[in-house]
Amino acid sequence: MANMRPGEPPIRLAAWQLWLDRRGRLSWLRVAALALLLLPLAKALYDAGAIAHGARPLNDLIHRAGFWALVFLGVTLAVTPFRRIARYGNLIEVRRMLGVGTFCYIAAHLALYIADQSYDLAKVWHEITHRAYLIVGAVAWLGLAALAATSTDGMMRRLGPLRWRRLHQAIYAIALLGLIHYFQQTRADVTVPVFAAGLFTWLIGYRLLAWRQDTSELSTMSLVWLAVAVSALTFAGEAIGIGIAFGVSPLRVLETAFDVDIGIRPGWQVLAAGLAAAALDALRSRMRKPQRRPVAAE
Ligand code: HEM
Repeated sequence: MANMRPGEPPIRLAAWQLWLDRRGRLSWLRVAALALLLLPLAKALYDAGAIAHGARPLNDLIHRAGFWALVFLGVTLAVTPFRRIARYGNLIEVRRMLGVGTFCYIAAHLALYIADQSYDLAKVWHEITHRAYLIVGAVAWLGLAALAATSTDGMMRRLGPLRWRRLHQAIYAIALLGLIHYFQQTRADVTVPVFAAGLFTWLIGYRLLAWRQDTSELSTMSLVWLAVAVSALTFAGEAIGIGIAFGVSPLRVLETAFDVDIGIRPGWQVLAAGLAAAALDALRSRMRKPQRRPVAAE
């Protein structure tokens, strides 16, 4: 329990008092996380007219909910690296809220899909069990539901820290399935899914590197190497994927990396994001003395 003095009893808060910390005080960090989670909803309300007059309003909302669920899944996974990189341990306070928020969007994604099928549950079941991208999505959905259901303090106590942590490591497999589902239903431009895959690779790469180096904090230099390696993987993955899909040589796809006329490739975007994280680390390590006690691994 972050920010609590030893012996201080936790205050019982109602589940809806999301903006209060465990001491019952207003937490601006929680307010910011809540605002972030509500932003896509506000945007959908703002776009309501355009959505309603579009060709398939429900399909538009399905896409928005699925996209933001994946974004918030990434934000939830980013809490652990960024509390270390930004030297801001309190970020952990909002991880559960972000995870449950992710599930809310994914629950809306499925509910909207059911509505789009005119609430015909037999048809929904038939579609989900017969289309590869829906099977993958459904497995990821069930995984997220299991993690949301076990995210309460009571379930944490009941499962014990080790079993709880092992169960919640399924988040990486779920993220992978979510990405596969995203790729499977993307028909033309794969730029955004490839960028998302690059960012998820960075998030997993960070943990693998920290585990390999047996440390909880990576050095700025390691972060630079991670950015370069993940960027190279993103370029290679995109070139191989496009090569297979369109029957062209991946090397020819790679040749377009410097062609700005077709847009900045996701490999460069991932490199920029990774180097920004390394720059933040360098800045924060100069601003603050290194912590004597390393932050416990999540
Ligand atoms: C039973 C579970 C699920 C169902 C029935 C489902 C269904 C769908 C459908 C129908 C689409 C639109 C496809 C199209 O228009 O051709 C879609 C898109 C998408 N779904 Fe799912 N999905 C499920 C689970 C998930 C999960 C667990 C995730 C993420 C963790 C996810 C993320 C996405 C994303 C990112 C898109 C594309 C959004 C975009 O175009 O920007 N879905 N899904």
